Amino acid sequence: MIIMLIPYLIALLFIHSIVAKVTIKPVNSAGLPSNQYIVENQLPLSNQTHELVKVEDIILVSQMSNSVLVKVQVDKYGVAQQVAGFQIANPNSSLHGLALSTKNPGMVWLTLEADNKLVLIDPVVASVTDAPKVIKEINVPKPGNGPHYIGEYETDLWVSLKESYHVLRINYENPKDYNLYQGVVHPIFVAQHPINKMFYSSEDDSSKIMKINPATGETTQINVNASAGTTPVGMISGPKGIWFALLGSKTAGTGTFGFIDHDDKIVYHKLTSPLGKDAALLHLAFDVAYKTNHKLYLLSSSIINPSALDMIIKVTFDKHWTTIKDEKVIVFPTQQCQSHRLLPTQFNVFATELSSSKLLTLFSP
Ligand SMILES: *[C@@H]1O[C@H](CO)[C@@H](O)[C@H](O)[C@H]1NC(C)=O
Ligand SMILES: *[C@@H]1O[C@H](CO)[C@@H](O)[C@H](O)[C@H]1NC(C)=O
Ligand SMILES: *[C@@H]1O[C@H](CO)[C@@H](O)[C@H](O)[C@H]1NC(C)=O
Repeated sequence: MIIMLIPYLIALLFIHSIVAKVTIKPVNSAGLPSNQYIVENQLPLSNQTHELVKVEDIILVSQMSNSVLVKVQVDKYGVAQQVAGFQIANPNSSLHGLALSTKNPGMVWLTLEADNKLVLIDPVVASVTDAPKVIKEINVPKPGNGPHYIGEYETDLWVSLKESYHVLRINYENPKDYNLYQGVVHPIFVAQHPINKMFYSSEDDSSKIMKINPATGETTQINVNASAGTTPVGMISGPKGIWFALLGSKTAGTGTFGFIDHDDKIVYHKLTSPLGKDAALLHLAFDVAYKTNHKLYLLSSSIINPSALDMIIKVTFDKHWTTIKDEKVIVFPTQQCQSHRLLPTQFNVFATELSSSKLLTLFSP
């Protein structure tokens, strides 16, 4: 019996000796650095989760498809502790834009895109479950239609009107004092240049940027260079000028974002990392300590292109804000979530996921 098994034992020894040549040892993996964590906080289900602002330890999130405002109480790193949703007007009112009031600290402006209203609320952050209170309502003057973005600049609100293609300036202390600036399809964001003080609006489907001189009422259309990319969406005021993200087409992103200087000269920056170079950039936000660390966060989104990756890209510039020194890509756990807006805080970066009803937080304890 033993003799009959000898060939098998020899064969087993041979296999073992081959297997033993496979070595296994730890490596330093690329990807999420070991001290970084992502938590995707589940919000009440909605087809469209859009914008966000933070008041104390409460994140307010707009859900447009059902016009619900979500209050999320978070810990230091943005992990949800308690969540409550509130119907704002009716389910067809299309709650969209959110902005902090600077004149009334702790109060929040919101837009009701379908009701043509701008509303100032007290979010009542002392308790997550207490309903926010309406403080002021302003009707969008006709023929203006479809308030989307809202921002408070001293006594004025600047609002993009997505349906009538206007940008609105309106004095919230005297709403009869207003201007409607006609743009082209569709004004999305509005931002004020820190140096020349002009207002700029990204017009996504026209791939143009409208410049508004509020003193003269003059408007100018600036083309986005098609060799750089198309579809400007996210547009914010930042170091030395206006910064904007290019989303690209339904089939391709170009990993490109732009900077407008005080003379309207545009510089395009192209990401170069393997995942960054084709990113579909929807939104952007500077780090809270950008003046010293020169960091900018970009959001890549699958919102119009289902094959685009949902990612946060952390970019570090040189101290003159002219050259990208470093680029780090963080891929969302939930893909095809149509990631929508970014909000950096001192301890984390939030992002909303439009189609998956989630509030992501990226943090390093
Ligand atoms: C999402 O939209 C679909 C189709 O319009 C609808 O049937 C569904 O109830 C919506 N879901 C939520 C959570 O609002
Ligand atoms: C919302 O819109 C739908 C479709 O247009 C309509 O059937 C429904 O009655 C509206 N609901 C309210 C509360 O206005
Ligand atoms: C657009 O970009 C291309 C490539 O960088 C450049 O050659 C061209 O001059 C630019 N066009 C305009 C109008 O700036």
